[in-house]
Amino acid sequence: MDSKRGILIAGNWKMNLGPKGTQEFASHLRTNWKISLSDKTRAAISNGKLGAHVFPASISLAPAKEAFAGTSVSVGAQNVHYEEKGAFTGEISGPMLKEIGLEWTLVGHSERRQYFGETDESVRKRTESHLRQGFHVVFCFGETRSEREDGRTNSVLETQLSRGLPEKLSGSDVEKLVLAYEPVWAIGTGLTATPEQAEEAHEYTRNFLIDRYGREIAAKLKILYGGSVTPENIRGLLAQPNVDGGLVGGASLKPESFLSLLEGAGSLF
Ligand code: 13P
Repeated sequence: MDSKRGILIAGNWKMNLGPKGTQEFASHLRTNWKISLSDKTRAAISNGKLGAHVFPASISLAPAKEAFAGTSVSVGAQNVHYEEKGAFTGEISGPMLKEIGLEWTLVGHSERRQYFGETDESVRKRTESHLRQGFHVVFCFGETRSEREDGRTNSVLETQLSRGLPEKLSGSDVEKLVLAYEPVWAIGTGLTATPEQAEEAHEYTRNFLIDRYGREIAAKLKILYGGSVTPENIRGLLAQPNVDGGLVGGASLKPESFLSLLEGAGSLF
């Protein structure tokens, strides 16, 4: 981690935790915030160096916004259409999120690509639209196991980044765009990338960003790592110069574990 960029810990809850589970999570977090987090970690959170985010399922967004009100945890949506309204059965839109005060979206997750037909093109449309609407966007990308085994990791990353990211970023986009490298083979498998493997992909990504947006902008963009992140391995990953946070699935579902992830990150400041 480069301390200038800060760290972000984001829990992607996927299809877990309905409104009731969300409320229980938030209430546990409130009760244990001061007990589980050191002064140093709480200071890093309050001065904006360490961000805490959760991405609940659509049905839990409004309850989450209410349940986390007054805490330092911000709430974002896992899947938001690029159109602002219309005949898109099953989708939700940016204006709907704004109505309940949400500011974060997630795009391009490999599960959306794999099971729901997301393409680099639709990922780019969502990214551009959400940024235009003023959202912070977490843009996910990453190779599959066979792509890695075939030695194609970098070319897959290059394709996903070049097709999925906007051609240009405005000043406010730079403040709002976050990347998340998630090797598909590491998601939900317990096979975390080693800190060295993560750094290699993050460095490749940083260089791509330098080529596309220039050194100054590339230095500001956070690149999170996702794929079997746990409280045990988070510190090693965050110790890498280009790893600026974690996008966490399974280990973000229990409040104790989410707090441990934050504490792991906070201990690095
Ligand atoms: P796991 O942490 O469960 O491997 O999931 C990672 C992920 O896909 C986060 O978006």
